[in-house]
Amino acid sequence: MDSFKLGNMDSRSAEALARLSAELEHRDAQDIVRWAVDRYPAGLVLACSFGAEDMVLVDMLTRVHPAPIIFYLDTGLLFPETYRLIDEAQTRYGFECVRVVPELTAAQQEEQYGDALWSRHPDHCCALRKVKPLQRYLADKSAWMTGIRRDQTLIRKNAPIVDFDRQHGLMKINPLAVWSSKDVFRYLIRNRVPYNPLHDHGYPSIGCMPCTRPVNPGDDARSGRWAGQEKTECGLHL
Ligand code: ADX
Repeated sequence: MDSFKLGNMDSRSAEALARLSAELEHRDAQDIVRWAVDRYPAGLVLACSFGAEDMVLVDMLTRVHPAPIIFYLDTGLLFPETYRLIDEAQTRYGFECVRVVPELTAAQQEEQYGDALWSRHPDHCCALRKVKPLQRYLADKSAWMTGIRRDQTLIRKNAPIVDFDRQHGLMKINPLAVWSSKDVFRYLIRNRVPYNPLHDHGYPSIGCMPCTRPVNPGDDARSGRWAGQEKTECGLHL
């Protein structure tokens, strides 16, 4: 077991981890991904929404891992373009991703909680369709990699490169924490990585269909997520 995977991490382990993260900060993202693969030979998974950042990580991870574990939370409410990209990425990179589903189908949720829970109680809908399935899936893993970047939301502004994720009880690695959106698209274009066509049509950040709107040029990249509500996070990254 990783020495950092302690429920009650003592202050020395926390300091060592902070030092490690600070050191990794100066490495490029591909190196960080390689480091993670070496450090967690078993139980490392990539959380992939198939958004732009995650396509960078798919490309980087498949360069250094012959059989990576890549999973997506299939809320049943993703855009058709996202489902098509999942097929395209699997064919192009030769992996089969793990599809993590909620306990209730969208139809069962409607039966139990009424129509369009997402518009009446978006937090509850995210909890049922993303947050709880993620908790269940990560329960026996040792590290997960995500595409979060510091400039995406206030909650993410101090995201370390590597940290112990107390919310889920395992290590969390954010290789693109210091990247900008420009860095992401530069990488995708240079390396001819497939990406969701919605990004070229006003959708910088893509979640579930009912809760994602296009944004105007110059608007905050996440203003199309849960537009018109206070909500900026679905609860995967607290
Ligand atoms: S969210 O919390 O607002 O939905 P965001 O779309 O910014 O998250 O994605 C941030 C990171 O969370 C992604 O880079 C990915 O690692 C993870 N993530 C988000 N949605 C999913 C999903 N449907 N499946 C797997 N991972 C996801």
